[in-house]
Amino acid sequence: MFKTTVGPGSSRAGYLRPETAQGIFMDFNWISRYFRGRMPFGVVQIGKAYRNEISPRQALLRLREFHQMEAEVFFDPQNKTWPRYDRLRDKNLKLLTREAQLLAPTEQNPIRMTMGDAVANGIIANEALGYFVALTAEFLETAGLPENVLRFRQHGLQEKAHYATDTWDAEFLSTRFDWVEIVGIADRTDFDLRAHERVSGQKLRQMRFFKEPQAVEVDRFIPVRAQLGPRFKDKAAAIGDAISKMDVPDSIPRDLEVEIDGRVFSVPKDCVRVERRMERKEGDWYVPHVIEPSFGVDRIIYALLECNAEFPGPEIEMVSMASGQKMQVVGPEPVKIRLPQSVAPIKAGVFPLMNRDGLDMFAKEVDARLRAAGITTYYDDAGAIGRRYARMDEIGTPWCVTVDYDSLEKKDVTVRERDTTKQERVAIDRLVDRFHDKS
Ligand code: GLY
Repeated sequence: MFKTTVGPGSSRAGYLRPETAQGIFMDFNWISRYFRGRMPFGVVQIGKAYRNEISPRQALLRLREFHQMEAEVFFDPQNKTWPRYDRLRDKNLKLLTREAQLLAPTEQNPIRMTMGDAVANGIIANEALGYFVALTAEFLETAGLPENVLRFRQHGLQEKAHYATDTWDAEFLSTRFDWVEIVGIADRTDFDLRAHERVSGQKLRQMRFFKEPQAVEVDRFIPVRAQLGPRFKDKAAAIGDAISKMDVPDSIPRDLEVEIDGRVFSVPKDCVRVERRMERKEGDWYVPHVIEPSFGVDRIIYALLECNAEFPGPEIEMVSMASGQKMQVVGPEPVKIRLPQSVAPIKAGVFPLMNRDGLDMFAKEVDARLRAAGITTYYDDAGAIGRRYARMDEIGTPWCVTVDYDSLEKKDVTVRERDTTKQERVAIDRLVDRFHDKS
């Protein structure tokens, strides 16, 4: 982990989290109460994580401080299904299996199949994992990554994290950096909850309820007060209570460890006896399994920019066919970023054709109206209109709204679409609806 110091001086070491996930595991009991024991349930968190990279280069791909979006979705290990599985069963995926990665590099081809087939053929370990792989594909494509630069690569047996049974990385093909991991989707099993149980002493479990409560025989520790009193004095009562709540293990150790107010006491076997009782049992406790889609936000942003940017072409010389004379030089074209409107940071540029004659006041009114409707705008009244369009194209703004002299009379504006550069007149009363319809 990324080590640092807390407060002045260097005596208190601190560690920055390498993933957002662990806070969710620590909160498991609160989250489980929120969901009132219904399974499966999940929690999503967006936050910063830190890794002390040896070489933080490669643009947004290798950072020491980066952003993650992680979901921890908890399951009964006997039921790794997902209620909306059928919605994505037919989603086509490109899967580079761990077996394919053992072949020579030129033969390492992904297989194309639906998520449902990959699960049915045991390529993806279970339905829930398959659902989140397909959901990730849908998310990345909707955000603006073309299907042809995406694949899912299964972790090999050596590479797989110690906690995972099956892990798939979403990778995108960068023109500069080859295949780059942007999302990891792991079945982390019960590894994390068990690890937190071990060190915290808290139970992080869920009950699998029986149809009807059952009467069952259970073994319970009964404290022998006559032994506990002389040994543990004022702590004897608290230790006795704690012992009577403990599960009786199959093989009872010589000393039982009991924690009271942060202090651990070793209680010899002869301070307890075991009694068999009939108890009413509602179900069985189990440690849930977790499936974790973990998204690297900065890497996805990089991928979106790389895949959607059109850079200026080279200058082209036009040569007259008749005379062979050089006629003119065309280009370079300005940069254009074709971000889908859903991820474009600004949805509409708003421009008065001229910064006078009331066009500016009118354009500011249009701008305020769009903003009040939740549409992020950029007001620009500087320079030629072509330059203003180009500035918006360069940051991926999908629409530009221009107020001209006709607007004052007809109460309408020109809307220009970035990708087609087509323009149409839209009444200002219809403008908000038009943008909402398009998104
Ligand atoms: N939580 C998984 C990771 O950070 O890689």
